[in-house]
Parts: sequence; structure tokens; C-alpha cells
Amino acid sequence: MEFSDRHVIVTGGTGALGSAVVAALVERGAICHVPFIAAAEAAAFRLRGHDRVKLVAARDLADEAAVTTVYDGVDPLWASIHLAGGFAMGGIGETGRATLVAQLEMNLVSAYLCCRAAVMRMRGKGGGRIVNVAARPAVEPRLGAGMTAYAASKAAVAALTEALAQEVAGDGILVNAVAPSIIDTPANRNAMPKADHALWPKPDEIAATILYLASPANSVTRGAVVPVYGKSAG
Ligand SMILES: NC(=O)c1ccc[n+]([C@@H]2O[C@H](COP(=O)([O-])OP(=O)(O)OC[C@H]3O[C@@H](n4cnc5c(N)ncnc54)[C@H](OP(=O)(O)O)[C@@H]3O)[C@@H](O)[C@H]2O)c1
Repeated sequence: MEFSDRHVIVTGGTGALGSAVVAALVERGAICHVPFIAAAEAAAFRLRGHDRVKLVAARDLADEAAVTTVYDGVDPLWASIHLAGGFAMGGIGETGRATLVAQLEMNLVSAYLCCRAAVMRMRGKGGGRIVNVAARPAVEPRLGAGMTAYAASKAAVAALTEALAQEVAGDGILVNAVAPSIIDTPANRNAMPKADHALWPKPDEIAATILYLASPANSVTRGAVVPVYGKSAG
């Protein structure tokens, strides 16, 4: 779990889960490159100003040019952790093409382009680690009822993870994902005030799993979509 002076890109690193991941990484010596879109979110980022955190102004990571901006100059890149993404509630009647395409861009296309950029940087240089974030409905699709566009986009992230892991294993690049159930974040607490928040996995707990998958200590695990559900039943 030691990351001394290793360069790690964390997309969505200013978000709820991302902040916990970046905090854990810098504690273990990593140099984190964190793209952001919203200036306000970057300004509020608690690790802003840390000497091993480099905030990078980027646009939408579903855009190839924006991804190039983030990955250019990060050399050598040890790990790339893709947490950028988002959720859209709604069954198929409420979510038309626009919502579906937005979910695919935010979750699948951003992860795909960042995986691609990371592979290009790691290949031929001793390899590295990639970690994506899917979601519980990606591996248990019946739980995606009422959020079909989201479930489909995260299932695609899971498939991307498994296919790419097989494709780049020979390059020494280990690709994995985590699949969280509802995370104990302020946004989720606001949206579901009556739920039993004690059952939800905490960002720090999920960060620990992500760190292992992204670390040099992980020398054999690849193609896994790891459930991180904590005590949650559903
Ligand atoms: N929270 C949960 O219960 C839960 C459960 C399962 C899976 N997940 C997944 O875990 C990841 C992190 O969740 P979170 O709760 O930490 O979310 P969050 O706080 O909303 O953070 C997500 C981050 O991703 C960024 N982002 C979204 N789309 C982007 C794009 N196209 N290009 C660049 N950046 C983009 C957001 O930037 P802006 O704020 O500027 O848009 C934000 O900084 C997400 O992929 C989410 O789908 C979350």
C-alpha cells in the first residue's frame, strides 16, 4: 500500500468518494493529479494546496481533448483511478435518449477515454494499475429497476474493466473496478434522510479497497469488479 512519489491520476477526485481516495493516497506518499471542471468545487476541495496534490483544470472528460490535457506530462504514470461519473434517477418512461446519452458519456465514455490514455502512458514502461468505479446495479442489474440508464452505463463500465484487463495483462497493467452500493455521502443523506445511514459503506472504507487495487502490493488481481457494499442489504 506504499505509493512513495508515484504519480496517480484521480478523476472525480474532488467529489465525495474522490476526496477520500486522494487523502489516502497522499498519506501514503503518492503525487495526485486531480482534474476538475467546476472552479467552485476545486476551491472547496479540502486538499487544495497540499504539496502532493496537483489540481488540473479540465473540461468534460467525455471529450478526448480534455483527457489529453489531464494525462499529458504525467510521466511516469503509476496508477489511474476513474471516479468521475454520476447518477440519474428514473425508469425508462422518464429517461429518454438525452438522459441515456448523458449517462453513457459521464460514466462509460469518460472511463473509456481515461483507460485508453492511461494504457498509452503505461504500456512499454513497466505497466501500472487502473481502477474504475461501477456500481452495485452493474453487477446485480435487477437492482437497477427505476434507474435503467444509470444501471446500463455502469454495467458497460464493468464490461470495459473485464475486457481491458484481459487485453493489457501482458503489458503489466492490472485493471479492476469497485462496485459500490449507496455510499454514505452528504448528498445521499440529504436525498434519503430516513434511511439507516449506518449501513452504508463510508468513502474511507471504499478508498481502502481502491488503494489496494491501485497499489504495487496488488501483483495479481485483475479483471475484478469488487463489491463494496458494507452492511447494506440492498
Ligand atoms: N454516491 C454513491 O452512492 C455511489 C454509488 C455507486 C457508485 N458511485 C459512483 O462513484 C463515483 C463517485 O461518486 P461520488 O458520490 O463521489 O460523486 P460526486 O461527489 O458527484 O463526484 C463525482 C465527480 O465526478 C465529476 N464528473 C462527473 N462527470 C464528469 C465528466 N464528464 N467529466 C469530468 N468530471 C466529471 C464531478 O464533477 P462536477 O461536480 O464538476 O460535475 C464530480 O467531481 C461516481 O462515478 C458514481 O457514479 C457512487
